Amino acid sequence: MTVLASALDTGGPDYTAHRAAMLDKLAALDAEHAKALAGGGEKYTARHRKRGKLLARERIELLVDPDSPFLELSPLAAWGSDYTVGASLVTGIGVVEGVECLITANDPTVRGGASNPWTLKKALRANEIAYANRLPVISLVESGGADLPSQKEIFIPGGALFRDLTRLSAAGIPTVAVVFGNSTAGGAYVPGMSDHAVMIRERSKVFLGGPPLVKMATGEESDDESLGGAEMHARTSGLADHYAVDEADAIRQARRIVARLNHRKAHPDPAQAEPPTYDPEELLGIVPGDLKTPFDPREVIARIVDGSDFDEFKPLYGTSLTTGWARLHGYPVGILANAQGVLFSAESQKAAQFIQLANQRDIPLVFLHNTTGYMVGKEYEQGGIIKHGAMMINAVSNSKVPHLSVLMGASYGAGHYGMCGRAYDPRFLFAWPSAKSAVMGPQQLAGVLSIVARASAAAKGQPYDDEADAGLRALVEAQIESESLPMFLSGRLYDDGVIDPRDTRTVLGLCLSAIHTAPVEGARGGFGVFRM
Ligand code: COA
Repeated sequence: MTVLASALDTGGPDYTAHRAAMLDKLAALDAEHAKALAGGGEKYTARHRKRGKLLARERIELLVDPDSPFLELSPLAAWGSDYTVGASLVTGIGVVEGVECLITANDPTVRGGASNPWTLKKALRANEIAYANRLPVISLVESGGADLPSQKEIFIPGGALFRDLTRLSAAGIPTVAVVFGNSTAGGAYVPGMSDHAVMIRERSKVFLGGPPLVKMATGEESDDESLGGAEMHARTSGLADHYAVDEADAIRQARRIVARLNHRKAHPDPAQAEPPTYDPEELLGIVPGDLKTPFDPREVIARIVDGSDFDEFKPLYGTSLTTGWARLHGYPVGILANAQGVLFSAESQKAAQFIQLANQRDIPLVFLHNTTGYMVGKEYEQGGIIKHGAMMINAVSNSKVPHLSVLMGASYGAGHYGMCGRAYDPRFLFAWPSAKSAVMGPQQLAGVLSIVARASAAAKGQPYDDEADAGLRALVEAQIESESLPMFLSGRLYDDGVIDPRDTRTVLGLCLSAIHTAPVEGARGGFGVFRM
């Protein structure tokens, strides 16, 4: 065994201060998560209940196996926008009849469950996850369709939702729609494009156009039931495969559908794994409040991997990036973790080599971010930092093993890319409340802007107003800082959620389990040209 040693002084002032700072951030995060849970608020929740209906998360709770976890994704979607936190849609991974499924549920308490631009992003991300990991999709539908005032943002790109459903089906990934209420216009294509459709007596309303629209279009008088009720679809149109008498019955039938899917994981679940030797609770006290102070990522690794057992690769070379092999809930993983923040040429080359090794051996990769980016300056440019960084980015881009990214601290500049940032398609990406991500740090960015403005004034022979410059710098700094924070980034769907550091092992374990539903196969070659 190669169990990591820990130098974390859990009685010391640094640990106490880091822990306090992290707990503050977690409290703020809890308050935002509570907004997502509250959905459309008391009034609409009470009205929904009075109609005898279950809330979106209650439907999910009944759908998944008793006492099994539900990994909710992007609960902060739409944070910082004009729309309700959560984006009127709940998405996540849950186990139904022993099968890991991607579940989505409209929240009808938020503007009738209508889809706004953030709902669309969240739904498309859910489809992407289902496709990459071969997870059956269960859609719990009750939605007013497109959020009409923002239709220009969603109508055209929104077609991808229905396209995805049929592409999933074509790839042999099952899709199940359970319609709890409205599913009109485009929404009708959710049951329409799904492999299996369940509808509920006197509840489901599935039609291309409701009675008023039909009256406008053709003059025909009609009613909800004859146009799109469950009875009609089960007996006459044939769109409903299953007729349920109430919500609980519909959920029971959805569970039976999944039980009969014969959906098998590509890789069997590993045997019960040993927990880390160190207490994951201590993850709260590792990241400093000020990200300029470095921390040893081995302290994090020691608290997330099985038995705290880690075989480090090239520990003496490129020491600002820690690389090595471990198991996480029994799954083999290769870990790349930033140690000193900056990535130099040696770190980049080491990363490229390590990523190739993981691909040769079909081992998923975990990226633990705390980087300020690739090193700048004459010495480093002359030493080929661009080509070496490019080498790492090439390896990350063309690697075929699943990637998991966790933003623990800084994730700035091209370092975010090299460490498999969002644009590099990690299967899942989560942030800790301590994370920050932007093109560069706020002070640096404000400083660069100021230098550029000063030079521009000088070139025009104009005087430079130093007082105005100081004010502007402060303003820019504050703006960039707020735009670097995890809630802001999560609101824009740049991650799959902000998590409590203590949950990292559990969350990554759930993701690895979901990932192994699809075959895990690395790239044998197939990388771009590596500049040497
Ligand atoms: N876009 C924007 N806002 C919508 C909306 C939509 N598609 N659907 C509902 N809302 C709003 C309502 O205006 C209402 O706002 P308010 O409470 O501030 O007045 C709120 O959401 C709740 O709607 P309400 O009609 O009271 O809820 P309900 O549960 O009784 O009915 C629907 C829900 C979806 C059946 C009904 O709102 C509806 O028919 N909406 C339009 C559906 C449609 O034609 N969509 C176009 C599809 S492309």
